[in-house]
Amino acid sequence: MELDRVRAEVAKAERVVVLTGAGVSAESGVPTFRGGGGAAVWRGLPATTLSSAEMVASDLNLVWEWFEYRRGLIASCAPNPAHEAIARWQTRFPGFTLVTQNVDGLHQKAGSRDVLELHGNLWRGRCTRCRMVAELPETPLGEIPPTCPACASALRPDVVLFGEMLPPGAFERAAQAAERADVFFVVGTSAVVWPAADLPEIAARRGAFVVEVNPEPSGAGGARAVALAGKAGELLPEI
Ligand code: OAD
Repeated sequence: MELDRVRAEVAKAERVVVLTGAGVSAESGVPTFRGGGGAAVWRGLPATTLSSAEMVASDLNLVWEWFEYRRGLIASCAPNPAHEAIARWQTRFPGFTLVTQNVDGLHQKAGSRDVLELHGNLWRGRCTRCRMVAELPETPLGEIPPTCPACASALRPDVVLFGEMLPPGAFERAAQAAERADVFFVVGTSAVVWPAADLPEIAARRGAFVVEVNPEPSGAGGARAVALAGKAGELLPEI
C-alpha cells in the first residue's frame, strides 16, 4: 500500500523537504486559487488584475483594500492538522526544509520556523521607496496605505504579485534543499506556477523519493512520484 511505502521512506530519511500550496490551507477555510471558492474575483476584478505590479503603481489603495479583505478572511482561520504535522516534522529529521507558496502565515502560526516563503507574506508590508519591510499584524489597518516606519512613504504588500520576480535567493535556497532531499513532499499545490513545478523535478533527478499529497493529484514530481490521493489534514498526521 502506498501509505506504507511512504512511511518506510520517511522512517529512514535524514533530509526532508515539504513544498506546500493553497491546498494545505483549504481545510482551514482559506480559498485556493484555482479551486473556486470566491477568491479569484473581487468587486468584479480578477485577482490577476488586483494583485499586479501595474495596480500597485496605479491604485495602491485599491490593492490594499483587496489585501485587507483577504487578511480579514485569513485572520479568522486557524492552522489545521496538516500545518500542525508539518510543524512537528521540523524537529524529527536532521535536515528539514519547508517551502511554501502561501502568503497566509498559517505555517508560522502552527509553529513552523525558518519557512522559505516563495511568494512573501500578507502580514508584512514593504516600503515603495526605501524597501524596508514592516510587520503588519493588525487588521483592519489604521490607515490605507500603511506607511513606512523608517521614511513614512507608502508600504505595499510584501507579497509577490503577478508578473513580479521572487524574493532574491528564495528559489535558490529551495532548490538547494531539493537537491539534497531524501524525501520531497508536494502538498496541496497544482504546481503549475513556476518555480513550484521545478522543485520536485530537481529532487527527483537527484534521487529523492517524491510524494504528492492532493485529493486531485497533479502529477507533480514526474512519473516515479507516489501520489497519495486525499486531504492533507487527514494524510499528513497519518504519515
Ligand atoms: P492552486 O489553487 O493552484 O492549487 C491548490 C491545490 O490544492 C489543487 O491542486 C487542489 O487539488 C489541492 N487541494 C485542495 N484541497 C486540498 C486538501 N485538503 N489537501 C491537499 N490538497 C488540496 O494553489 P497553488 O498551487 O498554491 O501565486 O497556487 C500556486 C500559486 O498560484 C499561488 O501561490 C499564487 C498563484 O498564482 C501568487 O500569488 C504569486
